Amino acid sequence: MPATIISGKEISARIRERIKGEIEELVRMKGENPDFALPGLAVILVGDDPGSSIYVRNKRKICEEVGIRSFGYILEKDTSEADLMGLIDQLNEDKNVHGILCQLPLPPHLDEFSVISAISPEKDVDGFHPINKGLLSMGKNCLIPCTPLGCVEMLKLSGIGIAGKHCVIIGRSNIVGKPLAALMLNENATVTITHSKTRDLQEICRQADILVAAIGKQGFVTGEYVKDGAVVIDVGINRDTENKVRGDVLFEEVSEIAGAITPVPGGVGLMTTTILMQNTLQAYRNIMSKEAVL
Ligand code: GUN
Repeated sequence: MPATIISGKEISARIRERIKGEIEELVRMKGENPDFALPGLAVILVGDDPGSSIYVRNKRKICEEVGIRSFGYILEKDTSEADLMGLIDQLNEDKNVHGILCQLPLPPHLDEFSVISAISPEKDVDGFHPINKGLLSMGKNCLIPCTPLGCVEMLKLSGIGIAGKHCVIIGRSNIVGKPLAALMLNENATVTITHSKTRDLQEICRQADILVAAIGKQGFVTGEYVKDGAVVIDVGINRDTENKVRGDVLFEEVSEIAGAITPVPGGVGLMTTTILMQNTLQAYRNIMSKEAVL
């Protein structure tokens, strides 16, 4: 029996509707008060990488859709670290900005770790700051990276239980694999992280109840990697020779074996930007409640 399709389109539309409703309520609360800030997201792009430019444009569009104010900063590709840090400092102080995202990868002369670490942890809607990473690994409340959280929300909102399941993740990036492992562990899954040096990869993957592909290689996961009835989450966004978006999973083959599967496009990718909106609203509420106490 072919797999159930887990639609990122439907699930993210539901989440966006909820966020939109919450922001409409904030707009009502603001009324005519000029001092009442509404949620705002600043997106920084250094250089003109075409892929990144599309992502940034897309983020602005989704912000508009849900009612989050967006502030875009497109910097020259030879921008100095001091100038970028200056902008981040300014945004850290800006009362109208509650989320700051610096699109990765950065040009090679900029040190990603230093840049990420300069963003105020409470405005770090990517969840990449070492403080948020540390809190996540300790199972504490924090801002959680958007793609991993998107994967977990997709499972939960599809009624797929996580506790006790064996989750195998292919890929150990700081953006997806590692934070997803921490998140799944916090959800009481048994977690295996695999990577390019893993031995007997197929065998390990075939033990997965939930298999997550975050490799960055089109069609890498074939039917041989998948147990009958397993849930397969495809995080890959690759361009084929015709410039079409393709996942890391060979969909046609794997969907005949898996119990449930996320498509590409229309799967995890849509969830990432939706969760970014959710994180911005969370950062806003955290900052506002802290200010109310002070
Ligand atoms: N580049 C690829 N994915 C991401 C992401 O989730 N956040 C940022 N800032 N850059 C990325």
